[in-house]
Amino acid sequence: MAPYIGTPTSRIDGIAKVTGAAKYAAEFNVPGGVLYGSIVPSAIAKGRIVSLDTSAAMDVEGVATVLTHENRPRMAGRDQDYKDDVAPDGSPFRPLYDDKIRFNGQPIALVVAETSEIARFAASLVRVEYESEAHVTDVFRERDAAIPVKATSPEGAMFAPPKPRGDAAKALAAAAVRHDAEYYVPIEHHNPMELYAATVIVEGDGTFTVYDKTQGVQNVQRYLCGVFGMKPEDVRVMSPFMGGGFGSGLRPQFEVVLAMLAARALQRSVRVVLTRPQMYALGYRPAMIQRIGLGATTGGTLEAITHDAITVTSQYEDFYRQETGWSGLLYKCANATYAHRLAHLDLPTSCDMRAPSAAPGVYALEAAMDELAVALKLDPVELRLRCYSDRDQHENRPFSSKALRECYRQGADAFGWSKRNPEPRSMRDGSDLVGWGMATGVWEAMQMPITVRIVLSANGHAEVACATSDIGTGTYTIMAQVAADALGLPLDSISIKLGDSSLPQSPVEGGSWIAASVANGIVTTAEAIRSELLRLAKQIPNSPLSNASSDELTLVGGQLVSKHDGARTVSIADAMRHGGVERIEQEKTTSPAEDAARSHNVHSAIFAEVNVDEQLGVVRVTRVVSAVAAGRILNTKTAASQILGGVVWGIGMALHEETLIDHRFGRIMNANIAEYHVPVNADVHDIKVIFVDEPDDSNPLGIKGLGEIGIVGVAAAVANAVYHATGTRVRNLPITLDKLHPV
Ligand code: MOS
Repeated sequence: MAPYIGTPTSRIDGIAKVTGAAKYAAEFNVPGGVLYGSIVPSAIAKGRIVSLDTSAAMDVEGVATVLTHENRPRMAGRDQDYKDDVAPDGSPFRPLYDDKIRFNGQPIALVVAETSEIARFAASLVRVEYESEAHVTDVFRERDAAIPVKATSPEGAMFAPPKPRGDAAKALAAAAVRHDAEYYVPIEHHNPMELYAATVIVEGDGTFTVYDKTQGVQNVQRYLCGVFGMKPEDVRVMSPFMGGGFGSGLRPQFEVVLAMLAARALQRSVRVVLTRPQMYALGYRPAMIQRIGLGATTGGTLEAITHDAITVTSQYEDFYRQETGWSGLLYKCANATYAHRLAHLDLPTSCDMRAPSAAPGVYALEAAMDELAVALKLDPVELRLRCYSDRDQHENRPFSSKALRECYRQGADAFGWSKRNPEPRSMRDGSDLVGWGMATGVWEAMQMPITVRIVLSANGHAEVACATSDIGTGTYTIMAQVAADALGLPLDSISIKLGDSSLPQSPVEGGSWIAASVANGIVTTAEAIRSELLRLAKQIPNSPLSNASSDELTLVGGQLVSKHDGARTVSIADAMRHGGVERIEQEKTTSPAEDAARSHNVHSAIFAEVNVDEQLGVVRVTRVVSAVAAGRILNTKTAASQILGGVVWGIGMALHEETLIDHRFGRIMNANIAEYHVPVNADVHDIKVIFVDEPDDSNPLGIKGLGEIGIVGVAAAVANAVYHATGTRVRNLPITLDKLHPV
């Protein structure tokens, strides 16, 4: 019986975090100190720099240099040198490369000084003359010019819309009941708590140690090597802790390029910390205009699904995910078509943001399904059960597991859904209108190749090392839990090393794939440790395990134990002492099993209650129940935190979040967390998370990953509840009070 996996274990790094012992990228210091870089952002959205006058900035005492495209050190000249592991098709942005302005807020100079205050002041003195060109930042102005995703590369093809099936246009036209409407999700920004920062330390031997805020240290290392022509041994990238990434740190960001540029130019250690407004130039969830068509029988089965989407990207890269494909995956329907067009705007390239594509795509589908349920006079849960699909219809294959029915059942029970009066405006709480809405969530369950090293010491301590990040999700903790169980040691005998490019290979931490990848990687490597221990144990005279094979052994309580005969044991300490070894080291690479016969997804059912003030239109989300099916749960405490965070973000998506651009200037107006609204404590009430049992054999531990499923469907559940409360259907997020007026 595994003692740690599945238990609600507190974060092993929790004390370090709350006492400040955990250091973030901007907090690493060196003897002699660091210089501070401050960015000068472009004030126009498109055009070129005619001249840059840095003399006033240079005259400030304490300024070391002002770097621009005119005087920066050499950088690579080819696009391929700037392509990171997760770069989309196109020509990646190169900070301080040339005089071209691609977006408002683009870094165009870096002032480097003795203190951050001096740097920031001097940055305000840099004078820039621009030659402006006409820009466009409004997706509605560009919707007709949007072009179908091209999917020229293998990665691009992965994210292109799936193959259509049947004849959806015909089936939609012939359907007894039809719903067809447009839904809109605006640009949203990640707004992690920690500001993006990089500290680049120049070592005595000419190499660089880089502390960067990133979701992938090896991705940043490869990128820096490409951009600056360095060898891997010349640059070590570390990110032991991260104050939230949510996708904004999957690609290397410009703080690290700028800090490295300055460090190379001055041969001094340099730190660059972005300001909150500058964080808005890093990437964003693309705005999405979607049209959903649903055709159904009067009995509530689906005949046709059409999903057309326009999403936003920059002029220089084509970022998109499979935004529309979720619609054809979730419900049983013989006829489905998808179209995805890209609007190229004078903005930075959009990027992944928690449950990229699913958060906005499933919002539209699930809002449309609610409207269909109303048209059919059918309970929304009942409609989804009638359309339930046991197969992935894109690939025509079963799922490795899909306990979504159980999510609907347990979620509805916990919420009290059966007491819902279907009539809009029929439920009240004092002067408030009350609404109950629900939606489904879906995400992928992926595993990636990963390498794990374990060093077991004769004193019963094990160090587990992998270059993955812990972006705040609890990776340190689940790694320790899995290692403790796999090695039969107490949790506090395990130490975890991660977030360091010199450690064994890991992909970026994203896509909810690290838990399944690294946990199974630990199990594989622990098996190699066990085999080595057995080899040593067999050398003991009259060894109780002389005839044992590694497969019939487990490691429990610091001992090798036969599964067949619990009396046959050899302690780790004895085996290593007899073998004369102080440490056993193993490093193994684990890849996902080939499983082309099945699809791998996680699912959820979300139930939301809103109270709407009838006079003012203020919406409060008073209760949410999220029932999640995500395979085996490694840690019910940190896992529930992931879902809670996702639900809170879904509330923000439904009611608060929207990046607003003044299109005259192509400039974001609310680039701060006073005016870009995210939910605060007063917006968050009762949230209940349920994990339904879902055995899965896709990998030895049966893990699916759940970092992203928490947000998917939440905005639709809230929007559907708002409709139920008010009778008003708002199809463009966020649902602010003006859109509900008069209630
Ligand atoms: Mo997540 S958007 O894959 O960091």
